[in-house]
Amino acid sequence: MYNILLALHSILRWAIVLLLVFNILRLLSSTVTNKVALSKWLLIAAHTTLLIGLYQYFAGGSGYAIIQQYGLEAAMQDSAKRFWAVEHPVGMLAAIVFITVGHISLKKSGNAKRTAVFYAIALILILAIVPWPMREAVGRPWFPGMN
Ligand code: HEM
Ligand code: HEM
Repeated sequence: MYNILLALHSILRWAIVLLLVFNILRLLSSTVTNKVALSKWLLIAAHTTLLIGLYQYFAGGSGYAIIQQYGLEAAMQDSAKRFWAVEHPVGMLAAIVFITVGHISLKKSGNAKRTAVFYAIALILILAIVPWPMREAVGRPWFPGMN
């Protein structure tokens, strides 16, 4: 079960990155009329990733368990431990807040430019905090099961 959810969490990164790019382009386009529909799919992908991520953080070995095992201070001094215990969960939560606020703001005010800015911030955060394979010590596969 844990592994299936981890695979889904890993795959959803691609859905989120692609949906962010498509949404930003559409939001900046003057010809597209309904900009909310695709934005909602982004929101659902982001919230599902958050839900699985919270579960992984508290039930798995690469999250809160690191703080329990080593203490916060020692975890903060080791870059790989700090990444999983703090940077990934906090940074991604912030990105998902930008996505949620961006979507709701689009629905309420229809200000597409402002939502595009929120989504661009989320995209930068996510690209910076995904454990890409080439990242030292924290790298994970491009796709589940790949190595
Ligand atoms: C940890 C789990 C989750 C949290 C903390 C969370 C949080 C939120 C928050 C704060 C909102 C904004 C409510 C508002 O002011 O309108 C929202 C809306 C929404 N969420 Fe989640 N969510 C979670 C999981 C999910 C999941 C698993 C899904 C779907 C698979 C989902 C789909 C949606 C949708 C469709 C909306 C409505 C947005 C709209 O008004 O168009 N969420 N969620
Ligand atoms: C946009 C949001 C997010 C993206 C794109 C993302 C992406 C990823 C990726 C690619 C992995 C590696 C998967 C693998 O090993 O194949 C991962 C692992 C993990 N993520 Fe996220 N994540 C996001 C949000 C979150 C959040 C909000 C949390 C916690 C609150 C979280 C907690 C974790 C944990 C604990 C792991 C490691 C699980 C394990 O190895 O047992 N993630 N994430």
